[in-house]
Amino acid sequence: MPNEIISITDQRTNQTYNLPIETGTIRAMDLRQVKTGPEDFGLMTYDPAFMNTASCRSGITFIDGERGILEYRGYPIEVLAERCTFLEVAYLLLFGELPNQAELDNWVNEITHHTMVHETTKRFMEGFRHDAHPMALLVSTVAALATVYPEARDVHNPKNRLLQIKRLIGKMPSIAAMSYRHSLGYPYIYPDNDLSYTANFMNMLWRMVEPKYVANDVLARALDILFILHADHEQNCSTNTMRSVGSSHADPYLATAAAAAALSGPLHGGANEEVLRMLDAIGSTENVPAYIKQVKDGHGKLMGVGHRVYKNYDPRAKIIKWAADRVFEVTGRNPKIEIALELERIALEDEYFIKRKLYPNVDFYSGIIYEAMGFNPAMFTVLFAIPRTVGWLAQWQEMITDPEQKIARPRQVYTGQRTREFVPLQKRGLVAATKT
Ligand code: ACO
Repeated sequence: MPNEIISITDQRTNQTYNLPIETGTIRAMDLRQVKTGPEDFGLMTYDPAFMNTASCRSGITFIDGERGILEYRGYPIEVLAERCTFLEVAYLLLFGELPNQAELDNWVNEITHHTMVHETTKRFMEGFRHDAHPMALLVSTVAALATVYPEARDVHNPKNRLLQIKRLIGKMPSIAAMSYRHSLGYPYIYPDNDLSYTANFMNMLWRMVEPKYVANDVLARALDILFILHADHEQNCSTNTMRSVGSSHADPYLATAAAAAALSGPLHGGANEEVLRMLDAIGSTENVPAYIKQVKDGHGKLMGVGHRVYKNYDPRAKIIKWAADRVFEVTGRNPKIEIALELERIALEDEYFIKRKLYPNVDFYSGIIYEAMGFNPAMFTVLFAIPRTVGWLAQWQEMITDPEQKIARPRQVYTGQRTREFVPLQKRGLVAATKT
Protein backbone atom coordinates (compact mmCIF):
# COMPACT_ATOMS: atom_id res chain seq x y z
CA MET A 1 0.00 0.00 0.00
CA PRO A 2 1.64 3.31 -1.06
CA ASN A 3 1.96 5.75 1.84
CA GLU A 4 0.86 8.75 -0.23
CA ILE A 5 -2.88 9.00 -0.64
CA ILE A 6 -5.26 11.66 -1.84
CA SER A 7 -8.82 11.73 -0.48
CA ILE A 8 -11.51 12.94 -2.83
CA THR A 9 -14.99 13.67 -1.58
CA ASP A 10 -17.73 13.55 -4.18
CA GLN A 11 -20.13 16.35 -3.25
CA ARG A 12 -22.86 14.64 -5.29
CA THR A 13 -22.91 11.57 -3.03
CA ASN A 14 -20.87 12.69 0.00
CA GLN A 15 -18.73 9.63 -0.47
CA THR A 16 -14.96 9.83 0.07
CA TYR A 17 -12.44 7.87 -2.01
CA ASN A 18 -8.79 7.31 -1.10
CA LEU A 19 -6.62 7.20 -4.19
CA PRO A 20 -2.95 6.16 -4.08
CA ILE A 21 -0.39 8.67 -5.36
CA GLU A 22 2.57 7.08 -7.12
CA THR A 23 5.47 9.10 -8.53
CA GLY A 24 3.40 12.28 -8.43
CA THR A 25 0.44 10.83 -10.30
CA ILE A 26 -2.90 9.25 -9.61
CA ARG A 27 -4.21 6.62 -11.99
CA ALA A 28 -7.04 7.95 -14.12
CA MET A 29 -8.64 4.48 -13.92
CA ASP A 30 -8.88 4.85 -10.11
CA LEU A 31 -11.40 7.64 -10.74
CA ARG A 32 -13.76 5.23 -12.46
CA GLN A 33 -15.01 4.02 -9.06
CA VAL A 34 -16.33 7.56 -8.40
CA LYS A 35 -19.98 7.10 -9.37
CA THR A 36 -23.37 8.53 -8.51
CA GLY A 37 -25.04 5.12 -8.90
CA PRO A 38 -24.78 1.73 -10.61
CA GLU A 39 -25.83 3.21 -13.99
CA ASP A 40 -23.11 5.87 -13.87
CA PHE A 41 -20.07 5.06 -16.06
CA GLY A 42 -17.72 6.60 -13.48
CA LEU A 43 -15.57 9.72 -13.42
CA MET A 44 -13.12 10.37 -16.26
CA THR A 45 -10.48 13.04 -16.72
CA TYR A 46 -10.86 15.56 -19.56
CA ASP A 47 -7.48 16.63 -20.89
CA PRO A 48 -7.47 17.94 -24.48
CA ALA A 49 -3.91 18.06 -25.86
CA PHE A 50 -2.65 15.97 -22.88
CA MET A 51 -1.74 19.09 -20.90
CA ASN A 52 -1.50 17.13 -17.63
CA THR A 53 -1.59 13.45 -18.51
CA ALA A 54 1.33 11.01 -18.34
CA SER A 55 0.65 8.37 -21.00
CA CYS A 56 3.57 6.10 -20.13
CA ARG A 57 6.50 5.38 -17.85
CA SER A 58 9.75 6.08 -19.62
CA GLY A 59 13.41 5.80 -18.68
CA ILE A 60 14.79 7.46 -21.82
CA THR A 61 14.66 11.25 -21.64
CA PHE A 62 14.25 13.56 -18.66
CA ILE A 63 13.12 17.17 -19.04
CA ASP A 64 12.72 19.73 -16.27
CA GLY A 65 10.98 22.48 -18.18
CA GLU A 66 11.03 24.97 -15.31
CA ARG A 67 14.80 24.71 -14.88
CA GLY A 68 15.71 24.17 -18.55
CA ILE A 69 17.24 20.70 -18.00
CA LEU A 70 17.40 17.96 -20.64
CA GLU A 71 19.05 14.58 -20.05
CA TYR A 72 19.22 11.40 -22.14
CA ARG A 73 19.37 8.29 -19.93
CA GLY A 74 20.61 10.54 -17.11
CA TYR A 75 23.40 12.30 -19.04
CA PRO A 76 23.03 16.10 -19.47
CA ILE A 77 22.57 17.13 -23.10
CA GLU A 78 25.44 19.63 -22.82
CA VAL A 79 27.92 16.82 -21.95
CA LEU A 80 26.66 14.52 -24.69
CA ALA A 81 26.81 17.32 -27.30
CA GLU A 82 30.38 18.13 -26.31
CA ARG A 83 31.82 14.64 -25.81
CA CYS A 84 29.91 12.16 -28.01
CA THR A 85 29.11 11.41 -31.62
CA PHE A 86 25.52 11.11 -32.77
CA LEU A 87 25.71 7.33 -33.24
CA GLU A 88 27.15 6.95 -29.72
CA VAL A 89 24.14 8.90 -28.39
CA ALA A 90 21.82 6.79 -30.56
CA TYR A 91 23.24 3.67 -28.88
CA LEU A 92 22.73 5.26 -25.46
CA LEU A 93 19.10 6.14 -26.19
CA LEU A 94 18.30 2.70 -27.57
CA PHE A 95 20.21 0.48 -25.14
CA GLY A 96 20.37 2.61 -21.99
CA GLU A 97 24.18 2.74 -21.62
CA LEU A 98 27.02 4.44 -23.45
CA PRO A 99 28.88 1.88 -25.59
CA ASN A 100 32.49 0.86 -24.95
CA GLN A 101 34.91 1.12 -27.89
CA ALA A 102 34.19 -2.38 -29.24
CA GLU A 103 30.42 -1.93 -28.93
CA LEU A 104 30.61 1.46 -30.62
CA ASP A 105 32.77 0.16 -33.51
CA ASN A 106 30.36 -2.70 -34.06
CA TRP A 107 27.32 -0.39 -33.88
CA VAL A 108 28.79 2.16 -36.32
CA ASN A 109 29.75 -0.66 -38.68
CA GLU A 110 26.24 -2.11 -38.58
CA ILE A 111 24.49 1.21 -39.16
CA THR A 112 26.93 2.02 -41.97
CA HIS A 113 26.05 -1.27 -43.67
CA HIS A 114 22.37 -0.43 -43.63
CA THR A 115 22.61 2.92 -45.43
CA MET A 116 21.93 1.51 -48.90
CA VAL A 117 18.32 1.52 -50.11
CA HIS A 118 16.80 -1.13 -52.36
CA GLU A 119 16.70 -0.08 -56.04
CA THR A 120 12.89 -0.21 -55.97
CA THR A 121 12.96 2.53 -53.31
CA LYS A 122 14.73 4.76 -55.84
CA ARG A 123 11.95 4.07 -58.27
CA PHE A 124 9.18 5.06 -55.80
CA MET A 125 10.96 8.34 -55.35
CA GLU A 126 11.32 8.96 -59.06
CA GLY A 127 7.52 8.87 -59.30
CA PHE A 128 7.05 11.99 -57.17
CA ARG A 129 6.62 15.44 -58.71
CA HIS A 130 9.85 17.47 -58.90
CA ASP A 131 8.41 20.19 -56.65
CA ALA A 132 7.07 17.84 -53.93
CA HIS A 133 7.89 19.01 -50.40
CA PRO A 134 10.85 16.91 -49.15
CA MET A 135 8.96 16.10 -45.92
CA ALA A 136 6.05 14.63 -47.92
CA LEU A 137 8.60 12.63 -49.93
CA LEU A 138 10.31 11.39 -46.79
CA VAL A 139 7.07 10.36 -45.06
CA SER A 140 5.81 8.52 -48.14
CA THR A 141 9.11 6.75 -48.79
CA VAL A 142 9.57 5.63 -45.19
CA ALA A 143 6.03 4.19 -45.28
CA ALA A 144 6.86 2.47 -48.56
CA LEU A 145 9.81 0.68 -46.89
CA ALA A 146 7.16 -1.51 -45.26
CA THR A 147 6.66 -3.01 -48.72
CA VAL A 148 10.37 -3.81 -48.97
CA TYR A 149 10.65 -5.40 -45.50
CA PRO A 150 7.35 -7.22 -44.87
CA GLU A 151 8.94 -9.22 -42.02
CA ALA A 152 9.00 -5.98 -40.00
CA ARG A 153 5.40 -6.77 -39.02
CA ASP A 154 6.70 -9.28 -36.50
CA VAL A 155 7.07 -6.60 -33.84
CA HIS A 156 7.21 -9.03 -30.91
CA ASN A 157 10.49 -10.59 -32.02
CA PRO A 158 13.37 -8.62 -30.40
CA LYS A 159 15.95 -9.67 -33.01
CA ASN A 160 13.65 -8.65 -35.82
CA ARG A 161 12.88 -5.33 -34.11
CA LEU A 162 16.59 -4.57 -33.78
CA LEU A 163 17.19 -5.29 -37.46
CA GLN A 164 14.47 -2.83 -38.49
CA ILE A 165 15.83 -0.25 -36.04
CA LYS A 166 19.28 -0.48 -37.64
CA ARG A 167 17.79 -0.29 -41.12
CA LEU A 168 15.75 2.79 -40.29
CA ILE A 169 18.65 4.65 -38.65
CA GLY A 170 20.93 3.70 -41.56
CA LYS A 171 18.52 4.55 -44.36
CA MET A 172 17.01 7.77 -43.04
CA PRO A 173 19.90 10.00 -44.25
CA SER A 174 19.92 8.20 -47.61
CA ILE A 175 16.20 8.84 -48.14
CA ALA A 176 16.53 12.42 -46.87
CA ALA A 177 19.38 13.11 -49.30
CA MET A 178 17.44 11.50 -52.14
CA SER A 179 14.43 13.69 -51.40
CA TYR A 180 16.69 16.75 -51.61
CA ARG A 181 18.33 15.72 -54.88
CA HIS A 182 14.96 14.74 -56.32
CA SER A 183 13.74 18.32 -55.89
CA LEU A 184 16.79 19.59 -57.81
CA GLY A 185 16.62 16.92 -60.50
CA TYR A 186 20.11 15.64 -59.60
CA PRO A 187 21.02 11.95 -59.74
CA TYR A 188 20.96 10.17 -56.39
CA ILE A 189 24.33 9.49 -54.76
CA TYR A 190 25.09 6.13 -53.18
CA PRO A 191 26.42 6.02 -49.60
CA ASP A 192 30.17 5.98 -48.96
CA ASN A 193 30.98 3.54 -46.17
CA ASP A 194 34.37 5.20 -45.45
CA LEU A 195 32.61 8.28 -44.10
CA SER A 196 31.03 9.04 -40.74
CA TYR A 197 27.21 9.17 -40.42
CA THR A 198 26.99 12.93 -40.99
CA ALA A 199 29.89 13.17 -43.50
CA ASN A 200 28.23 10.43 -45.55
CA PHE A 201 24.93 12.34 -45.40
CA MET A 202 26.73 15.42 -46.73
CA ASN A 203 28.27 13.23 -49.44
CA MET A 204 24.84 11.98 -50.53
CA LEU A 205 23.51 15.55 -50.55
CA TRP A 206 26.26 17.48 -52.20
CA ARG A 207 28.66 15.28 -54.15
CA MET A 208 28.72 16.24 -57.81
CA VAL A 209 31.39 14.91 -60.19
CA GLU A 210 34.31 14.55 -57.79
CA PRO A 211 35.38 10.91 -57.36
CA LYS A 212 35.48 11.14 -53.54
CA TYR A 213 33.53 13.59 -51.38
CA VAL A 214 35.50 15.26 -48.61
CA ALA A 215 33.29 16.79 -45.92
CA ASN A 216 34.36 19.89 -44.05
CA ASP A 217 35.14 18.59 -40.53
CA VAL A 218 33.68 21.62 -38.73
CA LEU A 219 30.40 21.38 -40.64
CA ALA A 220 30.19 17.59 -40.24
CA ARG A 221 30.73 17.96 -36.48
CA ALA A 222 28.18 20.80 -36.24
CA LEU A 223 25.62 18.60 -38.01
CA ASP A 224 26.49 15.75 -35.66
CA ILE A 225 25.87 18.04 -32.65
CA LEU A 226 22.57 19.21 -34.13
CA PHE A 227 21.59 15.57 -34.58
CA ILE A 228 22.44 14.83 -30.92
CA LEU A 229 20.26 17.75 -29.78
CA HIS A 230 17.31 16.57 -31.86
CA ALA A 231 17.57 12.84 -31.08
CA ASP A 232 14.83 12.59 -28.46
CA HIS A 233 12.53 14.83 -26.46
CA GLU A 234 10.26 12.51 -24.47
CA GLN A 235 6.50 12.57 -25.18
CA ASN A 236 6.28 15.29 -27.84
CA CYS A 237 3.63 15.25 -30.59
CA SER A 238 5.54 12.99 -33.03
CA THR A 239 6.77 10.59 -30.33
CA ASN A 240 3.26 10.31 -29.00
CA THR A 241 2.19 9.48 -32.58
CA MET A 242 4.91 6.81 -32.83
CA ARG A 243 3.73 5.22 -29.60
CA SER A 244 0.08 5.54 -30.50
CA VAL A 245 0.42 4.01 -33.99
CA GLY A 246 2.91 1.43 -32.67
CA SER A 247 0.48 0.46 -29.92
CA SER A 248 -1.74 -1.19 -32.54
CA HIS A 249 1.35 -3.31 -33.42
CA ALA A 250 1.68 -1.63 -36.82
CA ASP A 251 5.14 -2.21 -38.31
CA PRO A 252 7.89 0.28 -37.43
CA TYR A 253 8.18 1.77 -40.95
CA LEU A 254 4.51 2.74 -40.94
CA ALA A 255 4.71 4.00 -37.35
CA THR A 256 7.84 6.04 -38.17
CA ALA A 257 6.15 7.50 -41.24
CA ALA A 258 3.21 8.54 -39.04
CA ALA A 259 5.58 10.11 -36.50
CA ALA A 260 7.40 11.99 -39.27
CA ALA A 261 4.04 13.24 -40.55
CA ALA A 262 3.30 14.64 -37.09
CA LEU A 263 6.73 16.26 -37.02
CA SER A 264 6.08 18.09 -40.30
CA GLY A 265 3.49 20.46 -38.81
CA PRO A 266 4.51 24.10 -38.22
CA LEU A 267 3.71 23.89 -34.50
CA HIS A 268 6.22 21.03 -34.13
CA GLY A 269 9.28 20.23 -36.30
CA GLY A 270 7.97 22.33 -39.18
CA ALA A 271 8.63 25.43 -37.06
CA ASN A 272 12.30 25.62 -38.15
CA GLU A 273 11.20 26.22 -41.74
CA GLU A 274 8.66 28.81 -40.57
CA VAL A 275 11.33 30.66 -38.56
CA LEU A 276 13.32 31.30 -41.73
CA ARG A 277 10.22 32.46 -43.56
CA MET A 278 9.44 34.77 -40.63
CA LEU A 279 13.01 36.20 -40.63
CA ASP A 280 12.72 36.76 -44.39
CA ALA A 281 9.40 38.54 -43.90
CA ILE A 282 10.87 40.78 -41.17
CA GLY A 283 13.76 41.63 -43.49
CA SER A 284 15.93 43.74 -41.16
CA THR A 285 16.48 44.51 -37.47
CA GLU A 286 14.63 47.86 -37.70
CA ASN A 287 11.41 45.99 -38.49
CA VAL A 288 11.63 43.76 -35.41
CA PRO A 289 9.65 46.01 -32.96
CA ALA A 290 6.77 46.36 -35.46
CA TYR A 291 6.74 42.58 -35.99
CA ILE A 292 6.63 41.89 -32.26
CA LYS A 293 3.78 44.38 -31.85
CA GLN A 294 1.86 42.59 -34.60
CA VAL A 295 2.33 39.24 -32.78
CA LYS A 296 1.24 40.77 -29.46
CA ASP A 297 -1.85 42.17 -31.20
CA GLY A 298 -2.78 38.58 -32.04
CA HIS A 299 -1.57 38.44 -35.65
CA GLY A 300 0.54 35.30 -35.92
CA LYS A 301 3.12 33.84 -33.56
CA LEU A 302 6.82 34.26 -33.10
CA MET A 303 7.89 31.02 -34.71
CA GLY A 304 10.62 29.11 -32.84
CA VAL A 305 9.44 30.64 -29.57
CA GLY A 306 7.44 28.95 -26.82
CA HIS A 307 7.22 25.35 -25.74
CA ARG A 308 4.68 23.15 -24.01
CA VAL A 309 7.24 21.90 -21.49
CA TYR A 310 10.06 24.47 -21.33
CA LYS A 311 9.09 27.49 -19.29
CA ASN A 312 12.72 28.52 -19.22
CA TYR A 313 15.42 28.80 -21.90
CA ASP A 314 15.50 25.62 -24.03
CA PRO A 315 18.97 24.15 -23.27
CA ARG A 316 19.24 22.97 -26.87
CA ALA A 317 18.84 26.54 -28.18
CA LYS A 318 21.87 27.59 -26.07
CA ILE A 319 24.07 24.87 -27.62
CA ILE A 320 22.80 25.68 -31.11
CA LYS A 321 23.79 29.33 -30.66
CA TRP A 322 27.30 28.14 -29.78
CA ALA A 323 27.40 25.77 -32.78
CA ALA A 324 26.21 28.62 -35.06
CA ASP A 325 29.37 30.59 -34.30
CA ARG A 326 31.57 27.58 -35.25
CA VAL A 327 29.62 27.14 -38.52
CA PHE A 328 29.80 30.85 -39.39
CA GLU A 329 33.61 30.71 -39.10
CA VAL A 330 33.50 28.38 -42.12
CA THR A 331 30.50 29.65 -44.06
CA GLY A 332 30.49 33.35 -43.17
CA ARG A 333 27.84 34.88 -40.91
CA ASN A 334 24.24 34.36 -41.97
CA PRO A 335 22.84 37.93 -41.88
CA LYS A 336 19.55 36.57 -40.48
CA ILE A 337 21.28 35.89 -37.18
CA GLU A 338 21.19 39.64 -36.44
CA ILE A 339 17.41 39.71 -36.89
CA ALA A 340 17.05 36.57 -34.73
CA LEU A 341 19.23 38.01 -31.95
CA GLU A 342 17.26 41.26 -31.98
CA LEU A 343 13.96 39.34 -31.89
CA GLU A 344 15.20 37.30 -28.95
CA ARG A 345 16.53 40.39 -27.12
CA ILE A 346 13.24 42.30 -27.42
CA ALA A 347 11.06 39.26 -26.69
CA LEU A 348 13.01 38.38 -23.53
CA GLU A 349 12.48 41.93 -22.19
CA ASP A 350 8.82 42.17 -23.16
CA GLU A 351 6.07 41.74 -20.59
CA TYR A 352 3.92 39.67 -23.02
CA PHE A 353 6.63 37.01 -23.46
CA ILE A 354 7.88 37.15 -19.85
CA LYS A 355 4.37 36.63 -18.44
CA ARG A 356 3.76 33.64 -20.67
CA LYS A 357 7.28 32.24 -20.11
CA LEU A 358 8.01 32.19 -23.84
CA TYR A 359 11.66 31.53 -24.72
CA PRO A 360 13.41 30.56 -27.96
CA ASN A 361 13.14 26.83 -28.58
CA VAL A 362 15.37 24.44 -30.56
CA ASP A 363 13.92 25.60 -33.87
CA PHE A 364 14.72 29.28 -33.39
CA TYR A 365 18.40 29.08 -34.36
CA SER A 366 18.70 25.69 -36.11
CA GLY A 367 17.34 26.97 -39.44
CA ILE A 368 19.88 29.80 -39.51
CA ILE A 369 22.72 27.27 -39.23
CA TYR A 370 21.18 24.95 -41.78
CA GLU A 371 20.76 27.82 -44.23
CA ALA A 372 24.39 28.89 -43.72
CA MET A 373 25.43 25.29 -44.49
CA GLY A 374 23.58 25.46 -47.80
CA PHE A 375 20.21 23.83 -47.07
CA ASN A 376 17.02 25.44 -48.29
CA PRO A 377 14.22 25.87 -45.71
CA ALA A 378 12.08 23.07 -47.13
CA MET A 379 14.80 20.61 -46.00
CA PHE A 380 14.95 21.78 -42.37
CA THR A 381 12.29 19.47 -41.00
CA VAL A 382 13.83 16.54 -42.87
CA LEU A 383 17.06 17.34 -41.00
CA PHE A 384 15.09 17.10 -37.77
CA ALA A 385 13.47 13.77 -38.74
CA ILE A 386 16.79 11.95 -39.30
CA PRO A 387 18.00 12.07 -35.68
CA ARG A 388 14.52 12.03 -34.14
CA THR A 389 14.04 8.62 -35.77
CA VAL A 390 16.36 7.28 -33.06
CA GLY A 391 14.16 8.72 -30.31
CA TRP A 392 11.00 7.42 -31.96
CA LEU A 393 12.48 3.93 -32.20
CA ALA A 394 13.78 3.93 -28.62
CA GLN A 395 10.33 4.99 -27.40
CA TRP A 396 8.60 2.45 -29.65
CA GLN A 397 10.79 -0.36 -28.34
CA GLU A 398 10.12 0.75 -24.75
CA MET A 399 6.38 0.83 -25.44
CA ILE A 400 6.29 -2.60 -27.11
CA THR A 401 8.12 -4.21 -24.18
CA ASP A 402 6.11 -2.43 -21.45
CA PRO A 403 3.60 -4.92 -19.99
CA GLU A 404 1.36 -2.03 -18.85
CA GLN A 405 0.87 -0.69 -22.38
CA LYS A 406 -2.12 -1.58 -24.53
CA ILE A 407 -3.58 -0.18 -27.72
CA ALA A 408 -3.84 3.62 -27.26
CA ARG A 409 -7.47 4.53 -27.20
CA PRO A 410 -8.57 7.69 -25.40
CA ARG A 411 -12.10 8.34 -24.20
CA GLN A 412 -14.22 11.30 -25.29
CA VAL A 413 -16.83 13.59 -23.88
CA TYR A 414 -19.66 13.19 -26.37
CA THR A 415 -21.32 16.50 -27.25
CA GLY A 416 -23.47 15.43 -30.21
CA GLN A 417 -27.13 14.50 -30.46
CA ARG A 418 -28.58 11.16 -29.38
CA THR A 419 -31.01 8.64 -30.91
CA ARG A 420 -32.71 10.89 -33.45
CA GLU A 421 -35.63 10.03 -35.68
CA PHE A 422 -34.51 9.30 -39.26
CA VAL A 423 -35.81 11.73 -41.91
CA PRO A 424 -36.15 10.32 -45.48
CA LEU A 425 -34.12 12.14 -48.13
CA GLN A 426 -37.15 13.76 -49.81
CA LYS A 427 -38.32 15.30 -46.54
CA ARG A 428 -35.00 16.83 -45.43
CA GLY A 429 -34.64 20.62 -45.26
CA LEU A 430 -31.46 22.59 -45.87
CA VAL A 431 -28.51 20.97 -44.07
CA ALA A 432 -26.48 23.29 -41.81
CA ALA A 433 -23.25 22.68 -43.76
CA THR A 434 -24.75 23.94 -47.02
CA LYS A 435 -26.15 27.11 -45.39
CA THR A 436 -22.70 28.61 -44.83
N1 ACO B 1 4.33 33.72 -30.17
C1 ACO B 1 3.41 34.47 -29.52
N2 ACO B 1 2.60 34.02 -28.54
C2 ACO B 1 2.73 32.74 -28.20
C3 ACO B 1 3.67 31.88 -28.80
C4 ACO B 1 4.49 32.41 -29.82
N3 ACO B 1 5.39 31.67 -30.42
N4 ACO B 1 3.58 30.65 -28.25
C5 ACO B 1 2.61 30.71 -27.32
N5 ACO B 1 2.09 31.99 -27.29
C6 ACO B 1 1.06 32.48 -26.38
C7 ACO B 1 -0.30 31.91 -26.74
O1 ACO B 1 -0.98 32.75 -27.68
C8 ACO B 1 -0.96 31.87 -25.40
O2 ACO B 1 -1.34 33.19 -25.05
P1 ACO B 1 -2.71 33.44 -24.21
O3 ACO B 1 -2.48 32.81 -22.88
O4 ACO B 1 -2.86 34.93 -24.18
O5 ACO B 1 -3.80 32.76 -25.00
C9 ACO B 1 0.17 31.49 -24.43
O6 ACO B 1 1.36 31.97 -25.09
C10 ACO B 1 0.27 29.99 -24.18
O7 ACO B 1 0.44 29.33 -25.43
P2 ACO B 1 -0.24 27.96 -25.84
O8 ACO B 1 -0.48 27.99 -27.32
O9 ACO B 1 -1.41 27.69 -24.95
O10 ACO B 1 0.92 26.96 -25.46
P3 ACO B 1 1.06 25.47 -25.96
O11 ACO B 1 1.85 24.77 -24.93
O12 ACO B 1 -0.25 24.91 -26.35
O13 ACO B 1 1.91 25.64 -27.33
C11 ACO B 1 3.68 25.77 -28.87
C12 ACO B 1 3.27 25.40 -27.44
C13 ACO B 1 2.79 25.03 -29.88
C14 ACO B 1 5.12 25.33 -29.09
C15 ACO B 1 3.52 27.30 -29.05
O14 ACO B 1 4.37 28.00 -28.15
C16 ACO B 1 3.83 27.74 -30.49
O15 ACO B 1 2.95 27.67 -31.33
N6 ACO B 1 5.09 28.19 -30.78
C17 ACO B 1 5.48 28.56 -32.12
C18 ACO B 1 5.74 27.31 -32.95
C19 ACO B 1 7.02 26.61 -32.55
O16 ACO B 1 8.07 27.23 -32.41
N7 ACO B 1 6.94 25.29 -32.43
C20 ACO B 1 8.10 24.45 -32.13
C21 ACO B 1 8.02 23.90 -30.76
S1 ACO B 1 9.49 22.99 -30.37
C22 ACO B 1 9.33 21.56 -31.26
O17 ACO B 1 8.28 21.06 -31.51
C23 ACO B 1 10.49 21.00 -31.76
